[in-house]
Formats: sequence, C-alpha cells, structure tokens
Amino acid sequence: MKLACAAAFLVFASLAFAQPIAATPPMGWNSWNHFAEKVNDAVVRAAADALVSSGLRDAGYIYVNIDDTWEGQRDAQGIIHTNEKFPDMKALADYVHGKGLKLGIYSSPGPKTCAGYEGSYQHEEQDARTYAAWGIDYLKYDWCSARQVYKDSDMPAVYRKMAHALRSTGRPIVFSLCQYGDEAVWRWGAESGGNLWRTTDDIEDKWDRMSDIGFSQNGLERFAGPGHWNDPDMLEVGNGGMNDDEYRTHFSLWAMLAAPLLAGNDLAKMSPATLAILANRDVIAIDQDSAGKQGRRVWEEGPLEIWVRDLADGSKAVGLFNRGHRALPITVRWRELGYSQPPSARDLWAHKDLGKLAEPYTVTVARHGVVMLRVR
Ligand code: GLA
Repeated sequence: MKLACAAAFLVFASLAFAQPIAATPPMGWNSWNHFAEKVNDAVVRAAADALVSSGLRDAGYIYVNIDDTWEGQRDAQGIIHTNEKFPDMKALADYVHGKGLKLGIYSSPGPKTCAGYEGSYQHEEQDARTYAAWGIDYLKYDWCSARQVYKDSDMPAVYRKMAHALRSTGRPIVFSLCQYGDEAVWRWGAESGGNLWRTTDDIEDKWDRMSDIGFSQNGLERFAGPGHWNDPDMLEVGNGGMNDDEYRTHFSLWAMLAAPLLAGNDLAKMSPATLAILANRDVIAIDQDSAGKQGRRVWEEGPLEIWVRDLADGSKAVGLFNRGHRALPITVRWRELGYSQPPSARDLWAHKDLGKLAEPYTVTVARHGVVMLRVR
C-alpha cells in the first residue's frame, strides 16, 4: 500500500512539476550560420564538446541543432536515412545526450529542403517516429519547397500536422516553425503547435541586416510567452562580420526580445571576446526571465532607441541603443518609464552595480553599441 502511494505521488509530482517544453526561449547552437552544408558528425560532436568545455552548457545552451544537409534517401518502406556525413544519428544523439545536451534536427514540409535535400512531404508521421527513435529533441521545419505543393494559406494546417505527428511519438520535441514570418505566423504559430516561429527572412552576419531584423520586432511582444516565442533568427555573434559593439547590440536586443539564443558560430574556435558575449549571464538572465514578457521600444529619436522589458521580480531591463555612425549621448527620464524615484541599476556589460541613478540619466553609447541596464 505504502509503495503504491509512493508511486502514485511520484507520477503526480512528475506531472505537476514537469517543466513545459520551451518554458523559456530555447538556447543552444545551430550549424547553419557558420557551417551551412559543411556540417557533419564531427562538427556536431565538436560543438557539443565546446559547449561543455567553454561553460556555455552550464550557462543554459542545451540544444545542439543540426540544420539542413544531413538528409539522405528514403528506403523502400519510405524511411528517411542520413547521408554519408552522418553515419549513425542514434549514436550521435547518444553522444550529445551523454554530455547533458539535447539534439535538434531540420526538415521541410515540402518535398525538398531549402538546400535541395529530402523533405518530409507525405512522410510526416513516419519522419516524426524516426526522429523520436533516434532521440531527437528539437525540429526546425522550414517551408521552402512546400510552396510548390501548398498554398500559403495552408501553412497553419501543414504545421499542425507535423506538431501532431511529433506529439504522437510521446517524446518531448521542441517544434520550430520556419516560414520567414509569412501569413502573420505570430497569430497562429502557437495554435499550430509551434514553440517558436521565425518572424523574418534570414539573418546575415552584417550590421545592416542584423539591426534591420532586430529593431523591426517592436509590436510582436504580445504574441510571445512561455512555450511559444517569436524567433528573429539565429545568432551571428563571433562569425566575423560585425565588431564586438555590434555583437553586444545583437545579443542584448535578442535578450530584450525574449528570442531563442542559438549561437551560430564555430564554438570550437571562438575568441575570448566572443565567449564573453555569449556567456554573459546577466544578459542571459534577461532573455530567460521566467515571466516571458518580450520587451518593447519606449522611445526613439533619430538613431537612438530605448527598449524596456518587464521582469518577473518587478525589475526592468533597459536597453539604450545607438544605431548611429558615431558615439552619442542618450538620456533616460525615469519618470517617463513610470518611476517616481530614480531607480538603482546594474550595468550588464560593465558587470557593475551603479547604485541609484540620476534623474535624468545621460550616458554616452558607442557607435552601433548598447548600454544595457537592469533597474529596480
Ligand atoms: C532557410 C532557413 C535558414 C536555413 C536554410 C537551410 O534559408 O531560413 O535558417 O535553415 O534554409 O537551407
């Protein structure tokens, strides 16, 4: 009797206290931005090793996501196989899981992926079962050639079909919708079973592209929350096309946006400066805040913008961004942000407590740079 009670309690406890999937924005690494079609088994193992040795796993980067070009052919039963770059996906999943990490994969609802490999069209349930059998924990599902077989208005149903197939496997698999923000996906992405959905076309490792994407996200905040996130695409931090001020802006803005933090660089070869950005726990804590409230722009003037994000403990993240081509002062009036007294702050890039701030508070922000504060 006692044993039966204990067992019943354990079942109850695991249901009651199990974290819902993607309760905070997914964090990890994805192969595409740096490796593209050069990804293979060794690259993925090296990324997993580097997540552990760099400390990034312990900072929250858990998903190791293989993007496009792993796919081989289907056999006579229609079962998808890997190509020669991935000799044994189950063994790779075991390796990744053995490091306390999770493995992600990629497919398309169309006949072909964006890079022209085998997609999941008419094999949705079979592929979901294959992924679950391999031990896959995350699927990015990329529209691409689906446009040849479906209308855009079919998107919600097409994504729901794969969400259902994934759920039917009984394995918790994060479902990432990738259709570039078409059809106002933020309005139906969660209902279609998405844990995150891309809100834009592809990012590039360039200031203009990254900042266009990031700063255009204002207004989408009401669609994000625990379990379902807006995804302005994966990180370019450390890929070499921007300077460190620009990468700090990229990372800070993504944290304000409650965006997934999927590093897209070569983790095995990153510089200390790149690691210092990706591993900034103060900024990660903003991104991963348990209330899951996406930030918004509260002020802009010329190239200067102030963004605010409300946090679970009643404090706020405040991002002072300078999109201009030279250093400029930015002034914050705390009263306009709802403070009757000027708040105390921590500077999240200087890693310094600033004490009580002045009213108004003026700080010089580097060209393309950011000052990121947590105020209370
Ligand atoms: C699309 C996606 C990218 C990447 C490539 C792979 O462009 O938006 O993120 O997955 O396909 O082919």
